[in-house]
Amino acid sequence: MSRGRAESHQGATAERARFAGTIPALVSASFTLASLLPRALRNAWPRYAPRRAAASAASCALWWKHSVIYEIYLRSFQDADGDGVGDLRGIVQRLDYLESLGIDAIWITPPYPSPQVDGGYDVSDYRSIDPRCGTLADFDRVIVEAAKRGIRVLLDMVLNHTSEQHPWFREAARARDSARHDFYVWSDGRTAADGGRLPPNNWLSLFGGSAWQYVPAVDQFYYHKYYREQPDLNWRNSEVEHTMFDVMRLWLERGVAGFRLDAITSLIEDAQLRDEPQIGGTNSLGDPNLDHIYTDNLPETHAVIRRLRAMVDTYPRCRVLIGETYLPHTADLDAWYGGVQHNELHLPMDTRVGLVSRLDATTFRRHLLEAATELHHSQPLLVFDNHDTARSWDRFGDGVHNEQIARIIATLLLTSRAAVLLYQGEELGQRTATPQRLADVRDPLGIRGWPREKGRDGERTPMQWDTSNAQAGFSTNSHPWLPVPPDYRTVNVQSELAEPNSLLNWHRHLIAMRRNYDALRSGRLVMLDADNDSVLTYARVADDGAIMVVSLNMSATPQTISVDLASADLAGSSLATLLSSPEAIADAAVGAPVTLPPYTAWVAAVRTPPRATGRGAVRG
Ligand code: NOJ
Repeated sequence: MSRGRAESHQGATAERARFAGTIPALVSASFTLASLLPRALRNAWPRYAPRRAAASAASCALWWKHSVIYEIYLRSFQDADGDGVGDLRGIVQRLDYLESLGIDAIWITPPYPSPQVDGGYDVSDYRSIDPRCGTLADFDRVIVEAAKRGIRVLLDMVLNHTSEQHPWFREAARARDSARHDFYVWSDGRTAADGGRLPPNNWLSLFGGSAWQYVPAVDQFYYHKYYREQPDLNWRNSEVEHTMFDVMRLWLERGVAGFRLDAITSLIEDAQLRDEPQIGGTNSLGDPNLDHIYTDNLPETHAVIRRLRAMVDTYPRCRVLIGETYLPHTADLDAWYGGVQHNELHLPMDTRVGLVSRLDATTFRRHLLEAATELHHSQPLLVFDNHDTARSWDRFGDGVHNEQIARIIATLLLTSRAAVLLYQGEELGQRTATPQRLADVRDPLGIRGWPREKGRDGERTPMQWDTSNAQAGFSTNSHPWLPVPPDYRTVNVQSELAEPNSLLNWHRHLIAMRRNYDALRSGRLVMLDADNDSVLTYARVADDGAIMVVSLNMSATPQTISVDLASADLAGSSLATLLSSPEAIADAAVGAPVTLPPYTAWVAAVRTPPRATGRGAVRG
């Protein structure tokens, strides 16, 4: 470890010790933290900071495996220069908060120069920073300042498409024999009966209409999976791969800890440009639903990803590749890890757990079990919220118990066996603030699809920091790029830090526990009470035999359970509550009945941990 790094870890250790020291003060009536904590476990809390520091130094290879990665939607996180849009200097201002939250890494959405048709996902220069976001020096400062706080920086990388304003595309669209023409996906299309030009097939843009755009200068159509302004790169051209890998090397050398790979499953399309089958009905944009067998998840893509992984693995300090992968089947997800070879992405997103939008114990259990047993021991990456999806507060909430349900979601996210993506504001319970009038919509998707498709502005509103001004501390500009919802007066970082029972403090506890207890961080997952439709219960079992039990009552009625460890070949005498909400759950003997009020989240430590002998379990 270099001197600078050693110092930064010491700084982080001191801060974490301070955080650990605040924990007893957070015990309250409406949720309990270790209110009945046995002496042995109570003593474990102050040991949290030293243990974390030791782990960081010794096991770089595993840093990502059990990490909590915090998504920063750059435009909406913190505006430092007062133009109403978030920027890199704003991130630096808020790093102390992120450190105290306890996260391991941040993922920053694209900061590159861009016409901003798609919030930066339309890149016009991959080697620089958009002046609205800051400078390369600001980016370097984010990396250095984050490292001082033990936080790694992951960068969004858009490999599937560029902006139409990128010099490569301008050149490509100029003439068929231009140097960059083959950087993009072109087709001559078809000729209509009246002599007009038609796209070559029925492929659709995810953002509406045909995925093909005609360019008179070359008398051809180019393919765009997203907006017309986002032409797809041609990954069948090895020069594209060469160029984009060079771009990624540049950022790796600048010190990023890895990439979140945007739209990565769409990299390659069918060479024969075959029509995709219609599967009935229309989508929210009025287009027919297609089965994307020729534009998504093509087998050819995996060879590119294996070469990408090999390239990234040549860099020291364990860089990581996260994939934006919306895959319906576990077998497909497994392929994106490289299956038994483990030679593709480190962490493709598993969206089946968090994006199903049904608070249903049976569905969660099935997906968690599949992730645990059918991924060749790869590490799942769970996500409930991001800048493209209505917030989990609204998707899972029933309108009455949303706060409790949010605690259940947070507990599942942070205590099951997975790396975690946490989206800014999720820890506060920020709501989806969907625009009410077409005139207020900023996302072109919502403008095009109004009123059936209202776009993604609702989940992108500014981070709610405090009550210092009407912009919730996000900006000094009274007209931020998206309005701040009025609930910022109560839903904000400052208020929630001061409120022991807040959702923010619930997240802080869970993240601290995940770091402090091997069982919660890296222990294998063992499902308990597997036929219970209302309550999801599982154990996490550390290598040294220590066991934690998590039980989540996902129903609106009280449920009585008994934690049966013996049937899973586990042993223990009693359960000591570490964290529970909405009420304190008293210690109980293992196997004795425990009544969980509606929407209870309960985390308990098993006393007298046995030697680990779990059956059907999966190692973390
Ligand atoms: C996924 C990104 O998360 C989304 O915001 C973007 O519109 C598309 N990819 C296209 O880049």
